[in-house]
Amino acid sequence: MKLSQPYSSNSTFEGELAIAGVTARNLANEFGTPLFVIDEDDFHQRAGAWRDALIRHFGNHAGTVYYAGKSFLNKEVARWINQVGIGFDVCSGGELAVARSVNFPATNIELHGNNKSESEIREAIEYGVGTIVMDSFFEIERVARIAAELGKIQKVYLRLTAGVEAHTHEFISTAHEDQKFGFSIASGSAWKAVEATSAHASLRLAGFHSHIGSQIFIAEGFEVAAARLIELLAKYRDHFDAQLPELDLGGGYGIAYLPGESGLDPDEVLASISAVVKRECEKHSLTIPTISIEPGRHIVGPTTTTIYAVGTTKSVELDGGESRRYIAVDGGMSDNIRPSLYGAEYTALLANRLSESAPVNSRIVGKHCESGDIVIRQIELPGDIAPGDLLAVPATGAYGRSMASNYNHIPRPAVVAVKAGKARLITRRESINDLLALDI
Ligand code: LLP
Repeated sequence: MKLSQPYSSNSTFEGELAIAGVTARNLANEFGTPLFVIDEDDFHQRAGAWRDALIRHFGNHAGTVYYAGKSFLNKEVARWINQVGIGFDVCSGGELAVARSVNFPATNIELHGNNKSESEIREAIEYGVGTIVMDSFFEIERVARIAAELGKIQKVYLRLTAGVEAHTHEFISTAHEDQKFGFSIASGSAWKAVEATSAHASLRLAGFHSHIGSQIFIAEGFEVAAARLIELLAKYRDHFDAQLPELDLGGGYGIAYLPGESGLDPDEVLASISAVVKRECEKHSLTIPTISIEPGRHIVGPTTTTIYAVGTTKSVELDGGESRRYIAVDGGMSDNIRPSLYGAEYTALLANRLSESAPVNSRIVGKHCESGDIVIRQIELPGDIAPGDLLAVPATGAYGRSMASNYNHIPRPAVVAVKAGKARLITRRESINDLLALDI
């Protein structure tokens, strides 16, 4: 059976889950659990799909697809991004260090962050990053001073809040007014930031940036943001008698997590954004700027499956005579904080065998000392699931391993890449000794 979304496109299930031709059992035996398994071809296809769709819909005006490294990052993924020929959005010195470690072309890197340190700014400018996205008035002064000290003229964008209420979880929604990112267009601070930036010879303002939030399904938010940014481009043109050449519309494209859901289609969403960009530019008699985007989740999310081993099960009586079976796996909130933090929902399947057993009402929990340590709140799974069985949770590629913690001194899982029947380690499992080595 071919697994449809949200599973990686090369997954099959014939009694046992196989991802790109490698069975869950072999993966668990060789690399241990919990394990993040990333389907390499799937990653390339998804990244390539965004690259191609941007060109298809914007033609000469296609800018860069920047992969948002915060969604998941290691050296191998940074190499893949470069092979696909797209750019890299980093938002810390640590993410920049990964890019540098694989000699990622500096001009294809964009540096983000609402509180970049002096040393992060200096490292980025020294490395030659293509664009720094500026987020506060202090930062405009800092970037200008450091660029001047290094004798460089740094290309920059201003991150703007377009005042869009993206319909997603509050914590991952970023373009409404009352939050920490960017310069507000509505309050006039965006225009003040334009003036402040233009006063520095060491800064070259190339355009505006907006990121309205994450896991968004309605194109309208992107369209409204684009229209507001374009309005400001027109104001700039009227004031300075020159046009800024670039816009970056950020990431946030929603994906499927549960069976029956489907993610945003790159072609559909870019077609509608492109129509709005053309319409608004015509309205203001502007040349169409180059358009860049920053998908993270949509590229890496569906490529990855977490494999857990079941450790114990337990049945709990509920009010009304019902019961719930708790299935405890060998990971949990330390490798996937999303259910506890955002109420995110996932699905799971028994990955090592076919079961004829009738499904029972189940909750998948982790091994952490916290009752909120829930992987899946409610799911029907075969009644005979027992210690030693493997459960696979698909679509964990984005903000799973990258937000992992060591709560309860649990070492963070390994990441394995699978392709054409072969598996190889791309991030090794953390060990207890790694953790002990930090303490003096
Ligand atoms: N660009 C900027 C400036 C961003 O802040 C982000 C995500 C992205 C691009 C990529 O967004 P994506 O395409 O992956 O949705 N931890 C949360 C998501 C936080 C997103 C932070 N910024 C979660 O697990 O849902």
